[in-house]
Amino acid sequence: LEPEEIADFLFGVLPEQILAGTKITITAGPTREEIDPVRYISNHSSGKMGYALATAAEELGAKVTLISGPVNIAPPAKVTVVCVSSAQQMHDAVMQTTDECDIFIGCAAVADYRVQQKIAQKIKKSDDKLTLTFVKNPDILHDVAHLAKPPFTLGFAAETQNLREYALGKMQRKKLNMIAANDVSDSKIGFNSEKNALTVFWSKGEKTLEVADKLSLAKQLMQIVAQRYQENIKD
Ligand code: PMT
Repeated sequence: LEPEEIADFLFGVLPEQILAGTKITITAGPTREEIDPVRYISNHSSGKMGYALATAAEELGAKVTLISGPVNIAPPAKVTVVCVSSAQQMHDAVMQTTDECDIFIGCAAVADYRVQQKIAQKIKKSDDKLTLTFVKNPDILHDVAHLAKPPFTLGFAAETQNLREYALGKMQRKKLNMIAANDVSDSKIGFNSEKNALTVFWSKGEKTLEVADKLSLAKQLMQIVAQRYQENIKD
């Protein structure tokens, strides 16, 4: 092809850089809460949804920092990836970005609890029952949204029932601009699958994004985030 034809083609397929100059922090993947030197509790998050959002945001021109729990995915091109393990580490890494963050997206499946005291040596099998005491982890999304000058915030709500009610409750309690409700009762979508479906809520509207592969869904979601973010700045 002639250079002009290549340029025409690229301008036709590359998305408009509607988030140029915008700094976005995204959390992705699970967290691991250690019990003893060889055991931990975690969940089935693969990180695919969060990584797809990072790719989609970067394609729209944003400068993206992806704070990732332990996953097996190659880092997206042109995205800064910070690898963490526990919820506390994810919290600390996120808080280091908030001074310069315009948009925060909490897609990680953060463990709500950790063991009160990590046991120094491997727990030996002795009694028939083992009791562990758990304490609450910091809520990263809540803490970001309650900063004195919070960024525009998008949270996720992974629910197996009462999707709308629970998601709207989380949006209100955590003081979020938007929430993406993720029905995780169907194992074909959501956690550790190639596809997903979301219903996105904000104060004056909602939109359902039908089942699609995670990158295509992330692209649709980032368009909505960009529109809402820009309208929010104007208000
Ligand atoms: O990673 P994949 O396999 O691709 O799967 C994607 C996904 C299902 C994990 C993702 O789409 C999703 O729904 N992420 C949110 C999972 C979750 O833990 O949701 P929640 O309803 O428990 O948490 C609500 C929100 O608070 C989330 O934005 C979560 O990131 C945030 N949170 C929760 C607890 C905590 N201590 N800190 C937080 O920031």
